Amino acid sequence: MLVGEGAERFAVAQGFQRETLLTEKSRKEWLLWKETHSDWWGPGIASRDWRNRFHPPAHAEEWEQRIRRMQEIAADIGIPPELRMEAIRSVIFPPTGTIHCSTLNEKGEMSGCTTTAGLAWKIPGRVGDSAIIGAGCFTDQDVGSAGATGSGEENVKVAGAHTIIENMRHGMSPFEAGMDALNRLVRTYNSDKERLQFIDMTYYILRKDGAYAAVSLWEGYELGKPHQIAVHDGTRRLEKTVNLFPGASQDWPPVRKVAS
Ligand code: GLY
Repeated sequence: MLVGEGAERFAVAQGFQRETLLTEKSRKEWLLWKETHSDWWGPGIASRDWRNRFHPPAHAEEWEQRIRRMQEIAADIGIPPELRMEAIRSVIFPPTGTIHCSTLNEKGEMSGCTTTAGLAWKIPGRVGDSAIIGAGCFTDQDVGSAGATGSGEENVKVAGAHTIIENMRHGMSPFEAGMDALNRLVRTYNSDKERLQFIDMTYYILRKDGAYAAVSLWEGYELGKPHQIAVHDGTRRLEKTVNLFPGASQDWPPVRKVAS
């Protein structure tokens, strides 16, 4: 696996052009993040002093002050007024965008892929779970295919997709296999929901015979907006995941929601 500088050097050696894909809009949002939130990275929820890591403003007035300050900085950076709140929201609530797709064709062949931009504001060299075979994605022609979206750092610890496939190999249904992987995640934090609330995880599972399941640790990022999967087996539809815990996951580091 090649990442970062080594991957870039290899690509150039293979004849790929060096090009900048960063848009001016994204670059300015990144500058805003750098000026206001670059302390975002630090010890995670597995750290002993995870509670002390981040001090969100305690009162609404502090939030308002902070947003006003971010608006001023956004103006200095040259973010147009109509895009400032959007930029501030992406800085405070980093967007994610992972997609997993598992398929079974008419010949009984299975495929799986997981694609992602990872996590916004990630530090250079950070690899999530998507690219790691066995964590974000795993396909076995004799058993099935599975993948994950959510907190990559946590999924890597339980090799989620591989765990699910091995569970099915030993007789579990897709649903049982997924729930077992979620329970292994829960075990990594000794069922401590105070910390587990900051983990988001969805598993997508397709068995060799076409049986499938989608399970998630929490209902969704927000109450009333459940995680869903897209299914196509002749008819195309969205289906809600089955969640292990009721309620929504929370952003990490913890911040109180602000209205746009
Ligand atoms: N699951 C995507 C990532 O953590 O990068």
